[in-house]
Amino acid sequence: MATVHATPENIARGARIIRSGGLVAFPTETVYGLGANALDAKAVARIFEVKQRPSFDPLIVHVSGQEMLGRVVAQVPEQATRLMEKFWPGPLTLVMPKSPAIPGIVTSGLETVAVRMPNHPAALELLRRALVPIAAPSANPFGYLSPTRAEHVERMLGDLVDLILDDGATRFGVESTILLIGDPPVVLRFGAVAVEELEEQVGPVAVSLGENATPLAPGQLLRHYSPRTRIVIAHLEDVPLEKRTGAGFLAFRRAPEGFKRAVVLSGSGDLKEAAAGLFEALHQLDQEGLEAIYAEPVPEVGLGRAIMDRLRRASAGR
Ligand code: TXA
Ligand code: MG
Repeated sequence: MATVHATPENIARGARIIRSGGLVAFPTETVYGLGANALDAKAVARIFEVKQRPSFDPLIVHVSGQEMLGRVVAQVPEQATRLMEKFWPGPLTLVMPKSPAIPGIVTSGLETVAVRMPNHPAALELLRRALVPIAAPSANPFGYLSPTRAEHVERMLGDLVDLILDDGATRFGVESTILLIGDPPVVLRFGAVAVEELEEQVGPVAVSLGENATPLAPGQLLRHYSPRTRIVIAHLEDVPLEKRTGAGFLAFRRAPEGFKRAVVLSGSGDLKEAAAGLFEALHQLDQEGLEAIYAEPVPEVGLGRAIMDRLRRASAGR
């Protein structure tokens, strides 16, 4: 079994594995990542192999601070400095011009690199000990639900990973927000930092989520984050009674009657709490052999946008 508690000794072991070209799954404040040395093209290639991830989908590089950032990017635009001061460490990924030290496989050949400093003690300790930036996508097979617990990683990728560092459930439960630095800056993925918070810092931002079947930016595939069970976005009153008995319901605030299984994301209607439990709930429902999962829409403000983005992609293309 590759899963161990994220003790200092085990983190040090993880760092040695990263330095010698291996793969370590580790907790962040968003979701668990599948990490490799970002400066080692061969190690990064294993991430793509293990995840069965298409090579046109670039990775996020994790750093422990400004010094390491300097090895990843060619320069730091002023706008990025302002955002980093406010949001780092934290769930905001910034896309900036890349340094030649980052191999093309990390960025899918793009001249930019996506980078963030995670706000999680185990992740930061792993980076500090590894002494190299760590490329890490979410630790799930490509297109499947993101992992918010070490158990999810173990179940989905188990033996394919050299080590899984376990530190319980992640705090935000959805991935980082991705922002392309520029004028205006462009949100490429809704995530754990709300667009409203970004706009307080840098004024109006553009949004480009790649809603088309052929996205302009890579990695914005329409179908993503999907459970094996068919998922349908529907208001409760629109789910016919006869469909309920074999199905699950992912409720925002209140548990409904008549379903085989139901999960409530936040009784108080708190979108942050709902986001934190989203993937956990979908992992659970996906284990139940349900005919379908009906997911109730949530308000599209704050983290509600990240939730609806995940639900739309999870239900797309069926
Ligand atoms: O919260 C997170 O960001 C998690 C944890 C582990 O840090 N990581 C994560 O990585 O969600 P991943 O691989 O699932 O998301 C990577 C996405 C790509 O699909 C793409 O949309 C975007 O980041 N991306 C990466 N590099 C980019 C670039 N140079 N230009 C535009 N988008 C990029
Ligand atoms: Mg992912």
